Amino acid sequence: MGKCVNHPDRETSFLCSKHNIYMCEECLECRDPDIYCKFRSSCSVWFMTKKKKGLDEEEKIEEEVKQYKVVFMPDNKETEVTEGDTLLEAAGKADVYVNASCNGKGSCGKCKLILESGDVKKESTPLLSDNEKAKNYVLACQTKVAGDVIVRIPEETIERKLKVAGMGQEATERLKKLVKDISPMLKEIPLELEQPTLDDSVSDLDRLNRGLKTTGCDVERMNVGIKVMRDLSAAMRDENFNITASVIRKKCSNEILEVKPGGFDSPMLGLAIDVGTTTIVVYLVDMKDGSIIGATAGHNRQASCGDDVINRIVCAEKDGVSKLSSMGISTINNLINEVVESAGVEYRRIRNIVISGNTTMAHLLLKIEPRYIRREPYIPTVSEFPILKAKDIGIKADPSAAVFVMPGPASYVGGDIVSGLVFSGLHREEPLTLFIDIGTNGEIVLGNKDWLMCASCSAGPAFEGGGIRWGMRAEEGAIEKVSVDSETQEPKIDTVGDALPRGICGSGMIDLIAEMFLKGIIDNSGKFKLDASHARMKVEKNERAYVLAFSDETGVDEDIVFTETDIHSLVLSKGAVYAGFTVLLNQAGLDFSMVDRMWITGGFGQYLNIERAITIGLLPDIDRGKFEYLGNSSIAGAYMALLSDDFRKEAREISNSMTYIDFSSSNEFMEEYTSALFLPHTDLKAFPSVKV
Ligand code: FES
Repeated sequence: MGKCVNHPDRETSFLCSKHNIYMCEECLECRDPDIYCKFRSSCSVWFMTKKKKGLDEEEKIEEEVKQYKVVFMPDNKETEVTEGDTLLEAAGKADVYVNASCNGKGSCGKCKLILESGDVKKESTPLLSDNEKAKNYVLACQTKVAGDVIVRIPEETIERKLKVAGMGQEATERLKKLVKDISPMLKEIPLELEQPTLDDSVSDLDRLNRGLKTTGCDVERMNVGIKVMRDLSAAMRDENFNITASVIRKKCSNEILEVKPGGFDSPMLGLAIDVGTTTIVVYLVDMKDGSIIGATAGHNRQASCGDDVINRIVCAEKDGVSKLSSMGISTINNLINEVVESAGVEYRRIRNIVISGNTTMAHLLLKIEPRYIRREPYIPTVSEFPILKAKDIGIKADPSAAVFVMPGPASYVGGDIVSGLVFSGLHREEPLTLFIDIGTNGEIVLGNKDWLMCASCSAGPAFEGGGIRWGMRAEEGAIEKVSVDSETQEPKIDTVGDALPRGICGSGMIDLIAEMFLKGIIDNSGKFKLDASHARMKVEKNERAYVLAFSDETGVDEDIVFTETDIHSLVLSKGAVYAGFTVLLNQAGLDFSMVDRMWITGGFGQYLNIERAITIGLLPDIDRGKFEYLGNSSIAGAYMALLSDDFRKEAREISNSMTYIDFSSSNEFMEEYTSALFLPHTDLKAFPSVKV
């Protein structure tokens, strides 16, 4: 055994005898030229240690590897794992959702499970309270299986069904009005062709093209596959030359996908899919009139490989992109199952699909190499995707269904933002607009019908609950609103679904910090100034914390607190977003006073209290009438592109016309960021309405 040449913290037995260096398994598989080429390309023998072991010894090693059963309650899902695998790895194998914000590094404390029985080996962790330890809580990523094990997912972290925001008759009608002419990618064209005669003896394919031409198809640029040619003569004669041709409209050409005898049996369906890093939303759409006949949402299974896109890419580099792809596809297919079953329709009628997601999500889903997205100079493998087929991606639909993936202008401004612009119409109108999607990455677009600039600032996972002691997403039991009594400093909280509090979500945190700042509990640097003897103040793990709810008022049997570290994380996040606005405006030679509209999108924005967000310096102190919440603009844009060729074209044009500003090495951004790390800001003149 020796230490990996690239990762000195790893012990490995893979020794290269030629260069006398050790490499870990990851390096052996890695294709990054910076890591291995200088050694591996000329190295004939890598696996020295392994090879030196004779066959007998390898067999002996195999015999020694023990397999154990791990059962996850309450759903009784079980899997077999190898001794030494972590419970987090077991959860992945059993397809059980466990929140692993830090991708198994042991730093977030989110992957809690309760050990009911069995042998495990645990790493000690400060991230579990004494109360939790007494109840046999363990961190899944820090606990290795050493025997048959039964674990339980704690009530407070059980995955709950997500509500689909903006659904219902009213929202459907509003979306339908945005699409004037329905023009799907894949069209089914019924044709009544003339029967051949001695005077009209053109080939079957020419006859088909002649028929298609009469319907307005550009047959000069029509491709035909060999399968269609093979099936053609029988299909034409089966129903006396009455046929239905399926034609895919592509950017520079068309393709006849299949030819079936007779007219079409039932109307085509389509799917608009928003693949978010956290949540995936699916709309099932009747392509005849644009009605949304089913909608659902679920947690992206990839969350067990980390909260943000960087952790997902790291995971793909380590375990292979296929793993991440199948996690995403299985989430999508489960959601498709739900909508198809509830609508009582058949999968094969789904023949058009639009996917909208950020650049990393699109790459992972399509099993396209994502690693250079996170390495300077941050290059995606693909920005504009050709029209694909469902069978090539693995989506549960008609195998030939046409799939349009929203193009994205940059590694950190992707198709979901382009989709949002298609929906918002920002690029069609005169007013100068700031468009912002606040999440782990704050993506910002500035512009109007004449020009578009975009940028992304790494806000970190705090707004979505990551890295915060009691942070959680806006699910049942999340504290979403907080007010604090100015006399007593006692909090009043509202939770999602009026349930007992289980944690605090992004909007609740913004409320809380704004209230604590205004009511004198913290100062402008985010440090507590409330007397330590106050009933709401306590010391937890050596730092001061404000108690939002005492254990007997919660659904988790513990005090729900907000610590100084939590406040600091939130301040870092809001500082990054505000600095992003400022620098983008500066680059365009503008300032906040020139902005006519400020549009907020994304799931988090839904619950955002604009006034409180201004108080903490997340949003600029401008006329409140300029703010508008757009809802999930990514799914809305995907819906529009599903139904209309014009909107698909618009998406490509938007993506190609946006100027991307990179903040990663910008000194100006760093300066603005540092200035924004106070409440609300170091420049109080920029926040005249915030009075403490
Ligand atoms: S502590 Fe286990 S995933 Fe973060």
